Amino acid sequence: MNHCSVLATLMDFCLRRFLAFLLIGGVLARRNGDASFDRNYDITWGNDHVLSIDEGRQIQLSLDNSSGAGFGSKLSFGSGFIHMRIKLPGKDSAGVVTAFYLTSHSNNHDELDFEFLGNREGKPITLQTNVFANGQGNREQRMYLWFDPAADFHSYKILWNQYQIVFYVDDTPIRVFKNHTNSGVSYPSQPMQIEGSLWDGDSWATDGGQTKTNWSHAPFQTHFQGFDVNGCPVQDSDIQPCYSTNYWWNTRKYWTLDSTQQRAYENVRKNYLTYDYCSDRPRYPTPPPECPQ
Ligand SMILES: *[C@@H]1O[C@H](CO)[C@@H](O)[C@H](O)[C@H]1NC(C)=O
Ligand SMILES: *[C@@H]1O[C@H](CO)[C@@H](O)[C@H](O)[C@H]1NC(C)=O
Ligand SMILES: *[C@@H]1O[C@H](CO)[C@@H](O)[C@H](O)[C@H]1NC(C)=O
Repeated sequence: MNHCSVLATLMDFCLRRFLAFLLIGGVLARRNGDASFDRNYDITWGNDHVLSIDEGRQIQLSLDNSSGAGFGSKLSFGSGFIHMRIKLPGKDSAGVVTAFYLTSHSNNHDELDFEFLGNREGKPITLQTNVFANGQGNREQRMYLWFDPAADFHSYKILWNQYQIVFYVDDTPIRVFKNHTNSGVSYPSQPMQIEGSLWDGDSWATDGGQTKTNWSHAPFQTHFQGFDVNGCPVQDSDIQPCYSTNYWWNTRKYWTLDSTQQRAYENVRKNYLTYDYCSDRPRYPTPPPECPQ
């Protein structure tokens, strides 16, 4: 072998190594931002009504007259900026409920809910949110969205730190629940799992339960994406480490909405809110202490 061919072999070897490096690096990068379902979640019920798509980067839940389905995170979290991309069932989905939420499964449980209430074709889907802290819920808010949530995927997110809980639709804050413990209002403080589900809620979900699920349109299908988790996993049920500012969602920037977010939030409330427990006087003659005075 002369010098040239040694050099050529060496360069070839290096080039192959470099290409392999690029390939593996690319795969890892993709997996990091776009984890497969199996890495962070398990199916919890309705196994045969779940379909894995795109190597587990998308999950389809189906609802028919025999079952719906649900899934939950393998770990429990103590803070985070939790997100999911969801595309709801289209056409006539009256009575059908898609849920994405955090829950503690304890006796006096904490829970933060997104619930999408289906509707007859051509009528808007309602987004209901709720906040449970130390077993106390009854904090429903309802709104319409400024797009058709069945037409495409959108991000639904929950920011949870010691200062505030914020529900987001894409990048728009739609609900804020502040830490009001100094006014005697409980604030979620228990480890929570992330869950998603699709089920029949026609006893209450659409027009107070008067509009029923039309099973001739089954199966109803909801698609979920975005299984990477920005959350602090709780170990040995000690939630304190999850309040550390080493987690970016606990840093000052996330303690309040900034002025741009505040304007967007007020705009959404003004234009899309259809129900707020805070202003339901027959139900709460005196508004609960966490409500604006
Ligand atoms: C469920 O739907 C299937 C298909 O439409 C139908 O054949 C069956 O009778 C239904 N079962 C019940 C319990 O309604
Ligand atoms: C709520 O805020 C208080 C300070 O006002 C803080 O001590 C407490 O840890 C917070 N609660 C939770 C559950 O984050
Ligand atoms: C259910 O859907 C079928 C098929 O579109 C339709 O013929 C029927 O009238 C619907 N039933 C109700 C109660 O809307």
